[in-house]
Amino acid sequence: MATVVDAHCISEGSYKETNHYAVSIRGSGIRYKPGDSMGFYPTNDEDLAKHTLRAIGAKKNVVVETKETGKIELFDALLNRFTIHRAGKKFLSAVVSKMKKGKDKDELKEILEDRDKTDKYLFTRDCIDILNEHPVHFEPQEFIDTLSPITPRLYSISSSPKVHPGEIHLTIAIVKYNNFDRDRFGLATGHLAKEVEVNKTKIPVYVQPTKEFILPKDKSKDIIMVGPGTGIAPFRAFIEHRKATEATGRNWLFFGEVNQDSTFFYNDEWAEYMKGGDLDKLTTAFSRDQEDKIYVQHRLLSNAKEIWEWLENGAYFYVCGDKQYMAKDVHKALIEIAEKEGKMKKKDAETYINQTLMKDEHRYLRDVY
Ligand SMILES: Cc1cc2nc3c(=O)[nH]c(=O)nc-3n(C[C@H](O)[C@H](O)[C@H](O)COP(=O)(O)OP(=O)(O)OC[C@H]3O[C@@H](n4cnc5c(N)ncnc54)[C@H](O)[C@@H]3O)c2cc1C
Ligand SMILES: NC(=O)c1ccc[n+]([C@@H]2O[C@H](COP(=O)([O-])OP(=O)(O)OC[C@H]3O[C@@H](n4cnc5c(N)ncnc54)[C@H](OP(=O)(O)O)[C@@H]3O)[C@@H](O)[C@H]2O)c1
Repeated sequence: MATVVDAHCISEGSYKETNHYAVSIRGSGIRYKPGDSMGFYPTNDEDLAKHTLRAIGAKKNVVVETKETGKIELFDALLNRFTIHRAGKKFLSAVVSKMKKGKDKDELKEILEDRDKTDKYLFTRDCIDILNEHPVHFEPQEFIDTLSPITPRLYSISSSPKVHPGEIHLTIAIVKYNNFDRDRFGLATGHLAKEVEVNKTKIPVYVQPTKEFILPKDKSKDIIMVGPGTGIAPFRAFIEHRKATEATGRNWLFFGEVNQDSTFFYNDEWAEYMKGGDLDKLTTAFSRDQEDKIYVQHRLLSNAKEIWEWLENGAYFYVCGDKQYMAKDVHKALIEIAEKEGKMKKKDAETYINQTLMKDEHRYLRDVY
């Protein structure tokens, strides 16, 4: 159980909420290195758990039993052990099986038979929404049997243990949205955004070590870091650590966010590092400060010649952040750079990036989610 010792917003003035947190691991025996992630077991919002209890018309202290928990009071299970902020397919199937024959049941059945339709339906609803639309009765045990256990969330650590001994720092984008006129939050990020009281709140954590996403052993090697959004997290740790360990290799950071004024995370720290010569190059891409989107991969391409020189000179290339779009686009940009600056055919450029740089030399490393 780690006490939260700092929590502040680093996106003041933005429509987005991204927060910096620090938790104390002093005396716990927990150790970490730059590149590692921290796992956090969140619990549900208390009002949501109460509301869910009301929706199934059950008493809070009735005892249920599950293979994950053994015997447990229903409210304890709803608050601490099972996912209730989003409904699952198992719950929806149980509702359908309990509904009376008719048009409503047929419609829901049709949704259940199509994976995309099911995902779309469940994307916006929790159990309360579904029970409001289709009131059916669940016994407490039946209800619990339809839920999935809460799983831990991972966060890339944004501090070096050499610079912040006894602490783990995190850079977290809060997931929030509104459906059916109710404000909703991601489970873990909602918990952090709403519940945390600095120096009071304790959260259950563990460290998930990385084998691959590590700094070069040879401290004279240059590193290029591409970390838009919360992808910046491990690179704050890397730069802190390189400075603290007097690494002589050069550091080049690519950062991207929506607006320079409100979402230039850790701007003051980068300015200090640049002044002290600990950060050699900082290249930014603010996507919404002009009409056309500018992303980190555009900046990589406009710096292609120099990137290629760094790579030829043995530099390591790191990417962290969005897996679905950003990491794929950055990957394509790297291949384009190898093609253009390395004067390779497309196929050879792909082999160089996918095989030589990534698999053989372990110089292209990713932490994407
Ligand atoms: C290795 C690793 C490192 C990571 N590092 C970081 C990090 O450093 N910082 C960070 O912020 N995150 C990081 N993440 C992501 C993090 O683990 C969580 O996935 C994230 O914080 C969301 O968790 P949550 O419990 O708040 O949201 P959840 O309750 O899990 O909900 C998220 C879901 O909400 C859905 N959603 C979003 N908007 C809407 C909407 N309008 N309507 C309906 N549904 C919606 C999304 O589709 C998403 O599936 C990392 C993940 C991994 C695997
Ligand atoms: N609601 C959610 O569940 C939710 C919300 C946000 C992020 N996420 C996920 O959380 C992770 C981190 O999010 P974050 O808020 O830190 O940052 P993010 O959403 O990844 O955004 C950071 C920057 O990357 C830009 N971007 C968008 N598409 C890109 C692309 N294809 N290539 C390069 N850059 C691109 C964004 O621009 P624009 O936004 O202007 O296009 C923004 O300037 C990601 O995995 C993301 O998918 C989830």
